[in-house]
Amino acid sequence: MSDQLPESVGYRIIGHVDDFTSFPASVTIDRDPYFIIQTTGQEDAPSEYKLVSAICPHAGGVVRPWENELICPLHYWSFDSTTGQSTNVPGEQLDCRPIQIHEGQFTIAVSS
Ligand code: FES
Repeated sequence: MSDQLPESVGYRIIGHVDDFTSFPASVTIDRDPYFIIQTTGQEDAPSEYKLVSAICPHAGGVVRPWENELICPLHYWSFDSTTGQSTNVPGEQLDCRPIQIHEGQFTIAVSS
């Protein structure tokens, strides 16, 4: 069995960068809710964007932005809105994947 990752066959466009003016930004992909989040940039590591699922890993609630967090209304697990990592349940985090910017569009890699 190969240990190589599957080859990317392309990118899927999420939306034009200029259409998103604040983060986390709510988006729907294939009827599933997500947020585009922006990581906190630092001098040696500029900020980047990630796509995080809005589905809570506890029992499937849909998280909502509240101040600097994404909060699940079912049992109040909370997640940092710049990383997707839980702020009150150690080791838990929202599903997260990288976002690239191509020709002014937020995109995610699509593999076969
Ligand atoms: S389903 Fe989100 S905290 Fe329980």
